[in-house]
Amino acid sequence: MSDLMHKAEIQRLVVGAYRAVGSPGGAGSVAYTGAQLAGLPAGAVEWSLGVGNPVAWADLRAGDVVLDLGCGGGIDTLLAAGSVGPSGRAIGLDLVLEMCARGRRHAVEAGVANACFVGAEMEAIPLPDDSVDAVVSNGVVNLSARKMRVLFEAFRVLRPGGRLCLTDLTIEEERLPVEVLTHPAAWSG
Ligand SMILES: C[S@@+](CC[C@H](N)C(=O)[O-])C[C@H]1O[C@@H](n2cnc3c(N)ncnc32)[C@H](O)[C@@H]1O
Repeated sequence: MSDLMHKAEIQRLVVGAYRAVGSPGGAGSVAYTGAQLAGLPAGAVEWSLGVGNPVAWADLRAGDVVLDLGCGGGIDTLLAAGSVGPSGRAIGLDLVLEMCARGRRHAVEAGVANACFVGAEMEAIPLPDDSVDAVVSNGVVNLSARKMRVLFEAFRVLRPGGRLCLTDLTIEEERLPVEVLTHPAAWSG
């Protein structure tokens, strides 16, 4: 990973960018099936900012505890909560507290009682070791300047035999010019 920018500076850029999102437009919602979208409140679909549909691949089972890293408005947290049923639980985690508040609002609107939202950074997950069955994340790990730390934390909280299902963007950093590697929009967009 490039070390051309300070990690704290990158996190400030990311928080500023996601606080500033005004009319999200639901671009991420194209990755979901009609049946998945039909059960969600309009706000959760409108705030879909991801790049895939990780819950579709995470093989969730009744009773599982699922952690959604960088949950945003909570679309995947709510879908995961539905997949694991009332005996399971979905935890949405986001660095931006406004996103957590949106997720909570959407859960209330959807009548979902087994989801909760935690304001925290995915580089320091406030959960014990071996405490979740699956970690999902959608368009988020690319925003971290400490990607290995994120993966370390995900593996720390996963139980033995747990599942990690990420949908994200990747680049070959060596092929990018320094103007891109140090551009705020490249790190936070
Ligand atoms: C592209 S949006 C995706 C949101 C959501 N996963 C979705 O599919 O709609 C990225 C989200 O990651 C959050 N985020 C960025 N860096 C984070 C970090 N270090 N820890 C936790 N959340 C982070 C942002 O606040 C934002 O809500």
